[in-house]
Amino acid sequence: MNHFLDIHTTDAADLRGMIDQAAAMKTARNGRPKAAPDDDQPLAGRMVALIFEKPSTRTRVSFDVGVRQMGGQTMILSGADMQLGHGETIADTARVLSRYVDLIMIRTFEESVLHELAEYSSVPVINGLTNRTHPCQIMADVLTYEEHRGPIAGKRVVWSGDGNNVCASMLHAAGQFGFDLTFTGPQTLDPENEWVRYARDKGRDVQIVRDPMQAVQGADLIVTDTWVSMHDSQSTRERRHNQLRPYQVNERLMAEAKPDALFMHCLPAHRDEEVTSEVMDGPQSVIWDEAENRLHAQKAVMRWCLGV
Ligand code: CP
Ligand code: NVA
Repeated sequence: MNHFLDIHTTDAADLRGMIDQAAAMKTARNGRPKAAPDDDQPLAGRMVALIFEKPSTRTRVSFDVGVRQMGGQTMILSGADMQLGHGETIADTARVLSRYVDLIMIRTFEESVLHELAEYSSVPVINGLTNRTHPCQIMADVLTYEEHRGPIAGKRVVWSGDGNNVCASMLHAAGQFGFDLTFTGPQTLDPENEWVRYARDKGRDVQIVRDPMQAVQGADLIVTDTWVSMHDSQSTRERRHNQLRPYQVNERLMAEAKPDALFMHCLPAHRDEEVTSEVMDGPQSVIWDEAENRLHAQKAVMRWCLGV
């Protein structure tokens, strides 16, 4: 049984296999109506629980559609409506759900909830975002980069803004897929040292550069994310905005990167805050492919979890 908890805790060859399978499954669906099932039905007869303790559009819909395309069934559960939100322990919840369903995806706050769920579950558990990481997003990002530009190995990704949960998974991917990463943002919002060290220990060049214009020199891909994440207190909003404004991704910043650099954002975006509409809707942006690729990447993740 394979849990998909994080990119750095998953075997690199397995990660590569998932990306390649996702690309193949995407190609195989070409031109087919979205609701049409895949030719093979690897999840036939399987039930997947999707638990959300935070809002979601992409994760919710892409997992739901992905399971159905592969012949399985889903139930979407809101953490607040479960006994989980009213005092039942995570361990007991895991033991019970394991008797009903074949796979559990959870979006939660503390990483410890994900780990406890996985520890006590006898079916695979997938991380659909915690305060600390967002591995499914970055699997989709790797797939997206590679379908536009070929192998991501050896490329330079620049993360501009908050060194948050999505940035953390990008650092894990740098280590596992072999690309370099420059972080540019205010010091107080640097990515966790542990993740920077992780990627460096894997032999990757990880730079922290305060000047965004300097940071994006030689960038193959520029990525940003919201300035205030779901787990961040709204009381920090004004301070964060003031600190992060110089790190907005706009046309001036994109012009300093390589001419063929791509732009990505996990979405939801706050237009004209962390990124301008010109960049989001511009020729270097691949954000809609990136959103679509959540579907394809996660289908491969689920197959790997279930060994089907
Ligand atoms: N990128 C992402 O995870 O989006 P949702 O919050 O809409 O699921
Ligand atoms: N960093 C964001 C990502 C949302 C998909 C958050 O955690 O809110």
